[in-house]
Amino acid sequence: MLMNFPKRLRLAQLPTPLEYAERLSNALGVRLYFKRDDLTGSVLSGNKVRKLEFALAEALREKAQVIITAGGVQSNHCRATALACARMGLECHLILRGAPPRLPNGNLLLDLLAGARFSFFPREIYSTRRPEIVTDLVERYARDGKHAYFIPVGASNAIGSVGYVQAFQEIIGQAERAGIKIDHIVTAVGSGGTLAGLLAGKLLAKRRRPEIWGVNVCDDAPTFVQEVRRILEEMNDRFRTRFRTEQVAVNILDGYVGPGYALAYPEEIDSIINLARLEGLVLDPVYTGKAFHGLLREIAAGRFRKGETICFVHTGGVFGLMAQVEEFRDYWRENLGRKAKR
Ligand SMILES: Cc1ncc(COP(=O)(O)O)c(C=O)c1O
Repeated sequence: MLMNFPKRLRLAQLPTPLEYAERLSNALGVRLYFKRDDLTGSVLSGNKVRKLEFALAEALREKAQVIITAGGVQSNHCRATALACARMGLECHLILRGAPPRLPNGNLLLDLLAGARFSFFPREIYSTRRPEIVTDLVERYARDGKHAYFIPVGASNAIGSVGYVQAFQEIIGQAERAGIKIDHIVTAVGSGGTLAGLLAGKLLAKRRRPEIWGVNVCDDAPTFVQEVRRILEEMNDRFRTRFRTEQVAVNILDGYVGPGYALAYPEEIDSIINLARLEGLVLDPVYTGKAFHGLLREIAAGRFRKGETICFVHTGGVFGLMAQVEEFRDYWRENLGRKAKR
């Protein structure tokens, strides 16, 4: 099954490295690689950049002057969109869920620096009235003679997910050149596009392996099985891919959301700290921290067999970490109390 890739912009530093984590692998008894999609750029970083290469190319084809998108106040996707728009000379308008904070930090500070405009909406209104909010905004820009292009949350639609079809091919190509046989690919799932793209890549390649897994960081498994199938269906409509969506197995590792979206929990924070100390790799509490913690738990529970090769997609998110310093208060206190070793 072939797919004609739509045109893309060049925004990401690709290919990103595929790095072996030796100490961690030895400790876990599996061979663990990190696909460093946190390195797609310095501030324009993370998984969203791959999606934006395709979404913004389409916006430019449609002669858009303004890009509208939506997300939480600390959305990585909104930050990546704001910076990519600045780079492409486009205006950016962000519809954000929540109240404006007294001062911006983390991703929001970068949105501000990139010159994005903001509309904040309380959680309830954001969740129930987003389509009208978007339509209103698009019409407002039209009245000013500007064409506005809307990118849905996380750029998790058919066009955005093509970024991860291509990432799948990149991973397989790198692994084959290095003589590595990857058994499993694991990623965080927030809006579904990354997982859908990887899965589409595997289906197009007609491969049995690697098995693709998503760890949801919000909602639950049935929600994302449905959402991923919806994106694959949209790909069928747009790119004639002919996926038999109802029969596609969507593997979601549920159970690691904790108290809720963007709310961290102590075991997850411990996993983030341990990885940083062991491998010098930094995760975030909202996405990669939960996904990686889930992966560790699943390895311990025997889901992945000893000696298997697992590729964890590091989807970025470091600016979300900077916005959650409170979560590290105990660790900081412990360290201040630690006596210097003689
Ligand atoms: C750092 C990071 N990792 C993973 C994800 C999840 O990707 P997706 O929205 O494609 O499921 C997101 C965004 O939601 C993200 O910002």
